[in-house]
Amino acid sequence: MKGLYKEIEESQTLLINTQSKLLIDQNKKVIKFGFGQSPFLPPKSVLKALKESVKHKEYTSVQGDSELREFMSAFHKQHNSLEVDPNNILIAPGSKILLFNILMAFKNADVFIPSPSWVSYAPQARLAGHHIIKLNTTFEERWRINSKTIVEGTKLKKHEASILILNYPGNPDGLTYSEQELIDIAQIAKSQNMLVISDEIYGLLNHNHSHLSFSNYYPEKTITTTGLSKWCGAGGWRFGAAFLYKNIEPEFKQALIGIGSETYSCAAAPVQIAAKTAYKNFNETKDYVDYQIDILKKIGNYCSDHLNSEKIKVHAPQGGFYIFPDFSFHKEKLNLRGITTSHQLCERLLIETGVALLPASAFGFDADNLVARLAYVDFKEPKEKHLFNIQNDSPNIIEGIEKIVNWIGKS
Ligand SMILES: Cc1ncc(COP(=O)(O)O)c(C=O)c1O
Repeated sequence: MKGLYKEIEESQTLLINTQSKLLIDQNKKVIKFGFGQSPFLPPKSVLKALKESVKHKEYTSVQGDSELREFMSAFHKQHNSLEVDPNNILIAPGSKILLFNILMAFKNADVFIPSPSWVSYAPQARLAGHHIIKLNTTFEERWRINSKTIVEGTKLKKHEASILILNYPGNPDGLTYSEQELIDIAQIAKSQNMLVISDEIYGLLNHNHSHLSFSNYYPEKTITTTGLSKWCGAGGWRFGAAFLYKNIEPEFKQALIGIGSETYSCAAAPVQIAAKTAYKNFNETKDYVDYQIDILKKIGNYCSDHLNSEKIKVHAPQGGFYIFPDFSFHKEKLNLRGITTSHQLCERLLIETGVALLPASAFGFDADNLVARLAYVDFKEPKEKHLFNIQNDSPNIIEGIEKIVNWIGKS
């Protein structure tokens, strides 16, 4: 019956995967640029640790294994000078549920969400009953918010509590912030007494090995979220963490643990044991991460160079595995083909060429912005570590980009 239930659609990232599967079932080739899933396997030592830990069938504490929390704290200190007390780490089945629970811990809040940003922030904030303040950005601003955007947003405030969600390197844009940009945002966040949730799940995949944690610029009130889903290629293992700030209000921490206990109980025990191997020694893990970055950087630059040369405007990625191409230069031609929204753009591209992208409307954009997210993950991990070659090892990337360019060139 209408009106009884909360209105919430299936996440559009999962939806594109389903649509692509339908085409595959009809024996049609699909180039999978829609779903952001890393093609890399977790390191062998981590796989072995998971295999050997299947007998660990017990529940752990809500907060997570204490030795693992110590490893994570030391790992991140070495990786990007992030300081977190192991007692202030929460481990959960994925960072998504932690993001949601942080929002759920507030009674009423204004949640500042950049646009574009990851598909789930706004639905989560809505489910938690909060007031969303959208922070718009432009291609020229590299899809980044700044202090001015935030000040503008504060004029729409309705509640005492303010939460700003940051995500870099970003999904859907693959872009990060400079140190000065982070300092400026931290300054305004502090002056407004905002809680900042800094989603740094792609931090280890910064293409220049230079990820800066927001908590270094605003240690007073930043919660950092991360996990194994992206840099360790283990999204389906469901492992995430939140790093709380030093003097977190005891009642806030208690609320987070309480909500955790009433929802997920704990992250899977075998996965926590495998995570110990992943986080035990940053230097060992670094080789594995560097190898991925090397490949991702080459592919990301290949994609952005080729799209730009056909006037599909896009910023070269700085981290993660996404780019956010803007097709608006071709607007008239697309309009003549009956394409006026990003949804239609992606639908027609998928049907006519088999290339799956995600529409910008899924990331908070108005329907008529002809922008889409491309996840450059449709390649296989090369057998020989140092022999990666785009032409040989990622034929679907080459084919997919060529198909987009030819499709847009069609009059
Ligand atoms: C920006 C961003 N944050 C959070 C998540 C959720 O990750 P997890 O697998 O840790 O729940 C994703 C996954 O796609 C993401 O892209």
